[in-house]
Amino acid sequence: MFESAVIAAPMAGGPSGPALVTAVAGAGGFGFLAGGYKTATALAEEIRAVRPLDAAFGVNLFVPSAAEPDVNALNAYRAELEPEARRYGVELPPLRGADDDGWDQKTALLLEDPVPVVSFTFGLPPAGVVAALRKAGSIVLASVTSVAEALAAADVGVDALVVQHSSAGSHTAAFLPAPAESAADSAALVAAVRHAVALPLVAAGGIGDGAGLRRVLDAGAVAAQLGTAFLRTPESGARQLHKDALADAGYTETVLTRAFTGKPARALVNRFVREHSAHAPAAYPMVHHLTAPIRAAAAAQGDADGLNLWAGTGWRHSRDLPAAEVVQGFLGAL
Ligand SMILES: Cc1cc2nc3c(=O)[nH]c(=O)nc-3n(C[C@H](O)[C@H](O)[C@H](O)COP(=O)(O)O)c2cc1C
Repeated sequence: MFESAVIAAPMAGGPSGPALVTAVAGAGGFGFLAGGYKTATALAEEIRAVRPLDAAFGVNLFVPSAAEPDVNALNAYRAELEPEARRYGVELPPLRGADDDGWDQKTALLLEDPVPVVSFTFGLPPAGVVAALRKAGSIVLASVTSVAEALAAADVGVDALVVQHSSAGSHTAAFLPAPAESAADSAALVAAVRHAVALPLVAAGGIGDGAGLRRVLDAGAVAAQLGTAFLRTPESGARQLHKDALADAGYTETVLTRAFTGKPARALVNRFVREHSAHAPAAYPMVHHLTAPIRAAAAAQGDADGLNLWAGTGWRHSRDLPAAEVVQGFLGAL
């Protein structure tokens, strides 16, 4: 299914674009464009940029959720963030309703102009969308975080699963309540899903070196999807402040927090995480829009304490090396 055991994860918000996909493909890896947060037009441009590659590539989309947020909790969190807005000299935007991240336009784009691989996160696409994409010639993947989610994904007819462990950097892909018992690591989660579902599995979460890659392949994965390992590469469009933080020994841990976006996401622990994780409501993407001006101003002011420093638990392995060398480092360990 994938010609390479090393997949550069789709990373929305800047890190993954044509430069990273091109560099990864050139070194024998497989790259994903991140469709999340951007318009269908911007995504179409990125697809055009990687078409000439003599390699397959993927596009990732966010599946919108129909869940209604708790407006009182959102208003309380907005009030909690007012001092942050003053600190950074910005205005908090009025609360917005849910948005679907351009779902109709992006799925229409991928049906009109099919790409080799499409993956989804934050939920399952309707079976009809999966069938249409497959008919158009795309391989379709869903991201899951548990056996129950894997079974649900198999039911909508996808070709393969990205099995994401909670050690992963940035947002969880979870769309069902967490199971009572959680797997210890990516390899354990792959092994559990392997018993329940016959689809090919791509492991994700906390994989920082060749030994970690070998463990998930031994557990039954066909490949590993690595995010944090590519964040510091020159081809990653992550902010320099974020790249520097990943290399800063002053950061000592990561944690899952809703503070920045309203959806649990793993980040380095900074001041914003410490001060706001306790009260941030489960309200994605409303909290994402609410904190956007704070994050932008913190970035502009060079203050990593107000920024979402996404990182998986293996962040200390990440290096400022060309993406091709990162790919070769992982493949060379096999
Ligand atoms: C900065 C960042 C952004 C991410 N954005 C996306 C995304 O847009 N879509 C997606 O499916 N996964 C996204 N992920 C999660 C990755 O697909 C993958 O599960 C994760 O990076 C694996 O864990 P690792 O970071 O420890 O390697 C993102 C991860 C990071 C670090």
